[in-house]
Amino acid sequence: MDTYARFSLVFTTVIVILQASRAVVTRTLDIGYTLSEDSANWPTNRPIEIISLVKGLTPKGFWYEANVICMNEHSSTHLDAPSHFSEGAWSVDRIPLNHLIVPGVVMDIQEKVAKDSLAELTAEDVMAWLDKHGPLPDRAIVLVRTGWASRYGNKTAYFGTDTKITSKLAFPGINVGAARIFSGYEEKYGRRVVGVGLDTPSQDHGPSTHYPTHIELAAANIYGLENLADMSELPTKGFQLMVMPMNVKGGSGAPVRVIATIPDPDGDLSSGPPTHPLGQLLYLTPCLTLLVTLLLRP
Ligand SMILES: *[C@@H]1O[C@H](CO)[C@@H](O)[C@H](O)[C@H]1NC(C)=O
Repeated sequence: MDTYARFSLVFTTVIVILQASRAVVTRTLDIGYTLSEDSANWPTNRPIEIISLVKGLTPKGFWYEANVICMNEHSSTHLDAPSHFSEGAWSVDRIPLNHLIVPGVVMDIQEKVAKDSLAELTAEDVMAWLDKHGPLPDRAIVLVRTGWASRYGNKTAYFGTDTKITSKLAFPGINVGAARIFSGYEEKYGRRVVGVGLDTPSQDHGPSTHYPTHIELAAANIYGLENLADMSELPTKGFQLMVMPMNVKGGSGAPVRVIATIPDPDGDLSSGPPTHPLGQLLYLTPCLTLLVTLLLRP
């Protein structure tokens, strides 16, 4: 074997070993709710109905079941497309895929919300986060954790009212000042915010009547994720999100699944490359065997 072949083999093996040793075991979790007739639903929406059409054994002997679902686009855990609040902006089907599989960060305002249930993520909160944790990754989704998920299932506690009277709505949200930082982030820092998400019924907090945060973000083609579930297992940054809305043509919104992939230091071998040195050696055995065989070949 010539020197070049030996060199490239050794080089490749070193790279593979380095890659394996820095590989991180990950785990995935769903940060949305299942869709049911009991799901959170904006008070003026029609009720969510899941109607059974057929369910049972057919005369031919096989099982058959099928349902009809009737609901507003903006039901349960859902995505607000930019077209919801901005004429000509992206509808659900026009949001590029590379805006849906992206890095996420969490901005936590639970302490504020514990003192004031109408509290908002403000521009100051965002600047403090950036000072502490560094710039946002490019194509980021900013998740806002208010702690409101603990109220999910109790409509009065979650919306502030179990009536259709929207002036009684009470829950935390995102202030338009914070929204302006997100919409202007690309121009100022060269990195784009593609979406925001939160564990409440709406981006604008309950008392809002003119929805300035929705409008500001929609105009910048930034989508919103509403009625997200508990985010307690998410790190502050360094995780990926897969946002999968129903691909409704011209949709102003759609039910969505949001899957987070987070680093898992306790993960086992079955979920990814091993983290223990002995495990890594085992993992690399085929590669090492090949190398030794080739090097010892006359
Ligand atoms: C739901 O929340 C309301 C308001 O916080 C509270 O008064 C009520 O007791 C709760 N209901 C249940 C079943 O926990």
